[in-house]
Amino acid sequence: MARTHAADRDRRDFLFIAGSILALFALATLPHIAVAQTPAGSPLKIGMVGAGREGGALGTAFVKAGHPVMFSSQHPERLKDLVAGLGPLAHAGTVEQAVAFGDVVAIVVPYTAIEGIGKAHASALATKVLVMDVSNPIARRDGDDLVKWVAEQGGAGLATSKLLPGAHIVRAFNAIGSGRLAVLAHRPGEPVGVPIAGDDPKAIAVAQNLIREIGFEPVLVGGLAMGRHLVPGTPLGGEHAPAEIRQIAGSLR
Ligand SMILES: NC(=O)c1ccc[n+]([C@@H]2O[C@H](COP(=O)([O-])OP(=O)(O)OC[C@H]3O[C@@H](n4cnc5c(N)ncnc54)[C@H](OP(=O)(O)O)[C@@H]3O)[C@@H](O)[C@H]2O)c1
Repeated sequence: MARTHAADRDRRDFLFIAGSILALFALATLPHIAVAQTPAGSPLKIGMVGAGREGGALGTAFVKAGHPVMFSSQHPERLKDLVAGLGPLAHAGTVEQAVAFGDVVAIVVPYTAIEGIGKAHASALATKVLVMDVSNPIARRDGDDLVKWVAEQGGAGLATSKLLPGAHIVRAFNAIGSGRLAVLAHRPGEPVGVPIAGDDPKAIAVAQNLIREIGFEPVLVGGLAMGRHLVPGTPLGGEHAPAEIRQIAGSLR
C-alpha cells in the first residue's frame, strides 16, 4: 500500500515537472508574443481607424506584440473573421468605438476619408497620446484636387494636422506595403527602417517604442513638414536600412 502511494506521488511529481518544462518551452518558442514595452511599462490600447489591407496588417502586428487592439470599420461585422483569428486581444467596433478605445489611434484610410473623421472625432483624437497617420494622398484613388490641396498645405503631414486639429500626429509606415509588414518584421540581422515625422516629443517616443516592438527600427526624419516625403514613390518610400533613411533624409532637407 505504502509503495502504491509512493509510486502515485512519483508519477504526480514527474507529470508536474514535465508539464512545467513543456509550458516554458511553449512560451519560449512563441514567435513575437511579448509583453509590450511602453513608457508606462504596460500594454497600450490601440484603435485602428481603417482595418483594410494596411490597417489590418499593422493592427495584427500590434496584437502580436501584446497590445489590445480594436479594429474598426463602417461595417464592423465584416471584421469578425479577422479578430476571431487573432485571439482575445483583438476586438472589432465602429470608428467611434475604436477612437474611444485607443490610448493610441492609427488612421489607415483613403486620404479623402480623413476630413470626415476629423469633423466627427477631432476633439477625441486630440486627447490621445499618439495619432499615427499611415494614410497617403494618392491621385488615382483620392483625385487630383485632393492631392493639390494637400500639396498647398505643405504635404501630407501638415495637411493631416489641419484635418485633425490638436492631434499629436506622427506619420509612419506610409510606404511599407501591407503584404510586406509581417515578412519584414523582426527580420534577422539589421531591422528595416521606418521613417517617421512628427512634432510632439511624447507622441514620437510612443511611436518609436511601438515600431521597435513590432520589429522595425524607427528613424525620425524631422517634423510633420517632412511628412510630405513619407509617401510611396518618393526616395524615402519603400524598404530601406535605417542608415540609408538617414542619408536620404539628409539630402531632402
Ligand atoms: N495597402 C498598403 O500597402 C499601404 C501601405 C502604406 C500605407 N497605405 C495607406 O493606408 C491607407 C489605407 O490603405 P489600404 O490599402 O489599407 O486601403 P483598404 O484596404 O481599401 O482599406 C481602407 C480602410 O479604410 C476604411 N475606411 C474607408 N472610408 C472610411 C471612412 N469614411 N471612415 C472610416 N473608415 C473608412 C475602410 O473601412 P470600411 O470601408 O469597412 O469602413 C477600410 O478598413 C491609404 O491611405 C494608403 O495609402 C497603404
